[in-house]
Amino acid sequence: MTTTIALITGANKGIGLETARQLAAQGLTVLIGARDEARGEDAARVLREGGADARAVQLDVTDERSVARAAAAIEAEHGHLDVLVNNAGTATISRRRAQPSETSLEDMRAVYEVNVLGLVRVTNAMLPLLRRAPAARIVNVSSEVGSIGSQTSETSPLFAMPASAQYPSSKAAVNMLTAMYAKELKDTPIKVNAANPGFTSTDFNDHRGIRTVEQGAEASVHLATLPDDGPSGILWGHLWTTEGDGDGGYGVLPW
Ligand SMILES: NC(=O)c1ccc[n+]([C@@H]2O[C@H](COP(=O)([O-])OP(=O)(O)OC[C@H]3O[C@@H](n4cnc5c(N)ncnc54)[C@H](OP(=O)(O)O)[C@@H]3O)[C@@H](O)[C@H]2O)c1
Repeated sequence: MTTTIALITGANKGIGLETARQLAAQGLTVLIGARDEARGEDAARVLREGGADARAVQLDVTDERSVARAAAAIEAEHGHLDVLVNNAGTATISRRRAQPSETSLEDMRAVYEVNVLGLVRVTNAMLPLLRRAPAARIVNVSSEVGSIGSQTSETSPLFAMPASAQYPSSKAAVNMLTAMYAKELKDTPIKVNAANPGFTSTDFNDHRGIRTVEQGAEASVHLATLPDDGPSGILWGHLWTTEGDGDGGYGVLPW
């Protein structure tokens, strides 16, 4: 049997690292994509100490050469790729919360460079390798804040949240890209879905998130290991509701 190979971008910490840990626990070989080589090596070593087959791959999603080098290295070592989790993401570089009317274009450009262009850059570089796998899975880590349906529905808790431009719109773009890649690849065995981790405690939100990383990684892991009759072209993950404690379990979110 050939080894099942998974590449997770932004996997040196947070939800990405935990996604790698959970996929490795299912027997996959995990490639820890990290823009900083040392942070990637440290993360891979920690996973190996826990029994995982984990290796670091230097990968800055904003850097064409880094992505091309990573694809060439995976091709040379494994010849194919079974799972790509586009997990690397950022909310802001200025760390200044702003309404859309006050959004800094510099911040917006930087967020799009990682969340949107980075996803397309990595996906297109890895697709030739994914096409060589018997049934590849692409998971784009999105967010409920990128769901236009949730943001504009009075029955969603997101309706009452403050407006902001760069991060929600970048994840709305991730959602559309998911739908479009799924459309392009519909006659292949490759499935492309978007994951919503839910509000998860990581450096991303200074650990204000209410879900653990173990919970936050569940949606990505589920979509990365879908059976052949599973869906393609959906946004799936944690459901935040206005009822009870707000935890609606898992399911399909509106785009
Ligand atoms: N936490 C939440 O509540 C939440 C909710 C919904 C969606 N998400 C999404 O989940 C994903 C993971 O977030 P997280 O909460 O785990 O955040 P995190 O702990 O801040 O991790 C983000 C990861 O992305 C990496 N990254 C940033 N820019 C990169 C680049 N140019 N190239 C490669 N990697 C890059 C970071 O690397 P460095 O360590 O080098 O900075 C880090 O490994 C993101 O896409 C985020 O939008 C998070």
